Amino acid sequence: MTTIDVGVIGTGWCGGIRAAVCAASPLVESLHVAEIRPDRLAEVAARTGAVTATADYREFLDKVDAVLISATPETTHYPMARDCLAAGKHVLLEKPLALTLDEADELIDLADSRGLKFAVGYSQRFNPKQAYVKQCLVDGTLGTPVSALVSRHITRNLGRKIGGRIKLSPAAMEATHDIDFVMWCLAPARPVSVYAQSVRRVMAPDHDVPDCSWITITFDNGVVVVIGAGWILPPGYPNFSTTTIEFVGSDAALLIDDSHRDIVLNRMSGGVVFPLSTMPGEQVGHVYAGPMATETTHFLTAVTGDGPVLVPAREAREVMRVYLAADLSAESGQPVALDPYWRPPVLSAAGTG
Ligand SMILES: NC(=O)c1ccc[n+]([C@@H]2O[C@H](COP(=O)([O-])OP(=O)(O)OC[C@H]3O[C@@H](n4cnc5c(N)ncnc54)[C@H](O)[C@@H]3O)[C@@H](O)[C@H]2O)c1
Repeated sequence: MTTIDVGVIGTGWCGGIRAAVCAASPLVESLHVAEIRPDRLAEVAARTGAVTATADYREFLDKVDAVLISATPETTHYPMARDCLAAGKHVLLEKPLALTLDEADELIDLADSRGLKFAVGYSQRFNPKQAYVKQCLVDGTLGTPVSALVSRHITRNLGRKIGGRIKLSPAAMEATHDIDFVMWCLAPARPVSVYAQSVRRVMAPDHDVPDCSWITITFDNGVVVVIGAGWILPPGYPNFSTTTIEFVGSDAALLIDDSHRDIVLNRMSGGVVFPLSTMPGEQVGHVYAGPMATETTHFLTAVTGDGPVLVPAREAREVMRVYLAADLSAESGQPVALDPYWRPPVLSAAGTG
């Protein structure tokens, strides 16, 4: 079996999961981790048996074949990915791909010119319920697609975690998963119009970011999609998320409940929580509940077997154009027409109005 040497940069929530999956994979010969919080670095290194544990990822670049980049704030994504790709490493980068289209284009060109795998972490494509929608469109079960609705909410402890580190909108940080999902489902149709509105009531005083973004996207085949994403639910089970999806076609409709209300833990102390309800998922004894472990293994398999990645950065770039258009629309109050060459003007600091 072909094995590879792998690095993980940033071993917080997601990077901790990525590192654990890599450590358990027979495809990984050696694991190297970088983290600037010494306590967390020591904890993850001990748990994963990492060969290198360092605060500076550049120390292990010459020892690895592939790097998973899971650092925050999101300003780190572009320079870290650029360093890794320039060093000839395959990369799985958590969303967002970059902060600007210029950065995204530079990274994609770098990967292409070196023949490297460059994937972006849209984990929800590895959620079986979302994969089922794609399958029903591909095999014709739904007939001709007509409309879709995706509503996603996460708790305000997560909203505050994100809003406290970067001024990106719920469109860029949450709806981005659903924009990717519907574009993947409807491909090769492409978005031609984006209209969005956002609300600023709860998060704005402390974090200067909207509470939610509601986005209407029209595709060039006439399909209309509405995506709503917000991050002000009251604090719940660590990082609780709830999603509902309607995908309506000419021959069938899919109504999907991914609200995580199928497991209710009601405690004498602490009340009700909804276990296993985070977006990336979590380890439960011998199984992993959620999409992030499968996504990580898929990337390792693509690198070792020289196969395609499911979410190439080029597709993430198109998702980025749509959420940037949504931010612009929310700020201007006008719909944004998206031709294939559309690029956003420079936005205000908060990204949305
Ligand atoms: N796919 C999903 O479901 C999903 C879910 C949550 C977050 N995310 C994305 O994943 C990324 C990580 O999110 P998170 O919640 O794990 O963040 P986090 O803050 O929990 O972890 C990030 C880690 O990066 C470390 N770090 C910062 N600078 C570093 C550096 N120079 N070198 C090494 N480590 C460094 C931080 O100390 C921190 O431990 C975010 O950009 C987010 O958009 C994706």
